[in-house]
Amino acid sequence: MIRKYVFGEPIETDAVEIRIPAETKAFTEDHIRLLSPGRQGGSVFVCPMSDGDRIYGLGENVRGINKRGWIYESNCSDDPNHTEEKHSLYGAHNFLIFEPAGGRERFGLFIDCGQKVIFDCGYTDRKQLRITVAEGGFVLYILENESLLDMVHEFRSMIGRSYIPPKWAFGYGQSRWGYRSAEDVRQIVREHRDQGVPLDSVYMDIDYMERFKDFTVDAGRFPDFPEFVEEMSRQHIHLVPIIDAGVKIEKGYPVYEEGLANGYFCKNEDGTPFVGGAWPGRVHFPDVLNPDARKWFGDWYRVLLDAGIEGFWNDMNEPALFYSEAYLQEAFRKLTSFRTDDLDIWKFFELKGTVLSMANRPEDFRSFYHNMNGKMIRHDRVHNLYGSNMTRAAGEAFERLSPEKRILIFSRSSCIGMHRCGGIWMGDNQSWWSHLLMNMQMLPSLNMCGFLYIGADLGGFGSDTTADLLIRWLELGIFTPLMRNHSSMGTREQEFYRFGEPETFQKIIGLRYALLPYLYSEFMKAALSGGMMFIPLAFVWPEDGMAVQTEDQLMVGESLMIAPVYRQNAAGRYVYLPEEMKLYRMRSAQDMDVEILEAGHHFVRAELGEVLIFVRADHLVPLAEGGQYVEQVNTSSLRLMHFVKEEAVYQLYDDDGYSRNVELAGHLTEIRVTAGGGITAEGAMPLKCELI
Ligand code: GLC
Repeated sequence: MIRKYVFGEPIETDAVEIRIPAETKAFTEDHIRLLSPGRQGGSVFVCPMSDGDRIYGLGENVRGINKRGWIYESNCSDDPNHTEEKHSLYGAHNFLIFEPAGGRERFGLFIDCGQKVIFDCGYTDRKQLRITVAEGGFVLYILENESLLDMVHEFRSMIGRSYIPPKWAFGYGQSRWGYRSAEDVRQIVREHRDQGVPLDSVYMDIDYMERFKDFTVDAGRFPDFPEFVEEMSRQHIHLVPIIDAGVKIEKGYPVYEEGLANGYFCKNEDGTPFVGGAWPGRVHFPDVLNPDARKWFGDWYRVLLDAGIEGFWNDMNEPALFYSEAYLQEAFRKLTSFRTDDLDIWKFFELKGTVLSMANRPEDFRSFYHNMNGKMIRHDRVHNLYGSNMTRAAGEAFERLSPEKRILIFSRSSCIGMHRCGGIWMGDNQSWWSHLLMNMQMLPSLNMCGFLYIGADLGGFGSDTTADLLIRWLELGIFTPLMRNHSSMGTREQEFYRFGEPETFQKIIGLRYALLPYLYSEFMKAALSGGMMFIPLAFVWPEDGMAVQTEDQLMVGESLMIAPVYRQNAAGRYVYLPEEMKLYRMRSAQDMDVEILEAGHHFVRAELGEVLIFVRADHLVPLAEGGQYVEQVNTSSLRLMHFVKEEAVYQLYDDDGYSRNVELAGHLTEIRVTAGGGITAEGAMPLKCELI
């Protein structure tokens, strides 16, 4: 059951796809009380919490899967320091599920708006959930359902089908901020191919552009770009360029000239275009909340599509604001007023603050406007919609420009609603062991909010990685739809061949390709049914007190559970099994040992390079031979990881990997294994199976 309440005059976000009539009666809920309906200062809702009550959801955020105990803000932020004390990362995902320990009713809650929302999940008062919506209208949805999983399904049926990328985008991608030339890219491909480490894509960070200008390619460093794209494509490599939100202010640059002439950039109060700072220097921000501007910006992707590009990542779209021109002027003025003989501690802090507080100032986000259907809307009212709409610009353009074939697109900033047009990556994490765990815990929370095509920078973006951290991170990354090794300029290089043990990488990354039939099938079934691919144990075994508390293991799809190692030097880890399972300790798709473990606690050995896969009773995991790239994976000859007590049945989804029309292209094969070892496979495609 879904109830919808409208507060004030909300700005349309397009997050909800189905029509739900608004309640006509005033807001009175048993679950949650409206404390102040504030016209001016925002609205506050409170809900008492007892010991053991839990909170799930809230998408991309720091801390664990159960969100209770911290205060989170939906306020898309360009912040590369994802430390525990942060409240907000790049996304704004305003969906949560309140799961009471007993007695009261579970409920789901979605706040549909573009302004800031604060979810105080027992931070100020351990016994209270307190939600504050900043000034402005919003729509509140309250959901009720029988189970946590059903609640997610219900929410997802409201917000529409998640984005589906092309299948090649499930392959391994190598990325780094700092690949400067075609030759750099060729070297990466050569190393992977020569050493037998699978690869499907190389990402092109801002360095490919001409002075960081969107939709340009530096002709000196990438001569004859379409031919280079073609050369890569002959090796089954997809190049994936980055597109940034800020458009360089430069006379003669057509994106700038066109945007200016048409009034398509965000504006100051006086109607002049707002000037901010980003990688290219002074930039304007395309007003992607204006449908005309959105279409215009989206059409620019054509330049790269025409060169043969089939995938993009959208960045800096919170939007990231290094400075506003207005504040920069003020800061320059202020800086010249300091005197060396007068710099006491307070003056010194002021001096430091003048420079350090330049980026992403809330005052700056309140100083510019969007043209939304003729109305000037101040940015802070719709801040959380900006990145989403940049990606929507791309997504809508791809539907026009590539009506048959799916195009890869994922974004840094996002809001619920954008899950229909693109995926996300989790932004600038660090090469820290704690971030491996944090990124893992984001996976189910993001799935709840509709984001299925997701992944973190494997190995860590900032800081220097180490071989063992990268290997452990890949051991998790082989399960995430987006599997990309990405790192920042200035950090230790982290392509696999920097570490001198190619076989380990060959085997781990190879395992991803072997698991592809299962992973793609589970992804697609989650997308088509509004389900989750990464499922907390609490959702599967809600009555099991220990499972409910286990936050470092996840179900991946219906058949398997993962328990990644996320501690330095650990040669294994404790694992909790809510029921008897079969452990496949995998060193590669071919090399594994297998044992059945009873329900309960176990210390399970997992040396570096060993992946723990637990198969549930009466379930199957199809495994292919693998391949050097996605297209090479033979999905018609499979080995079955299995734990059959009576009978296991698996519905394997597959399609051509690129058609947008998955209803037409998709097909299911039903694989059945009986306790006696009999195998049948029935479906549209012939399939050869054997047990392992
Ligand atoms: C941002 C992105 C990062 C990228 C860098 C340079 O920090 O999050 O992925 O490498 O910008 O473009």
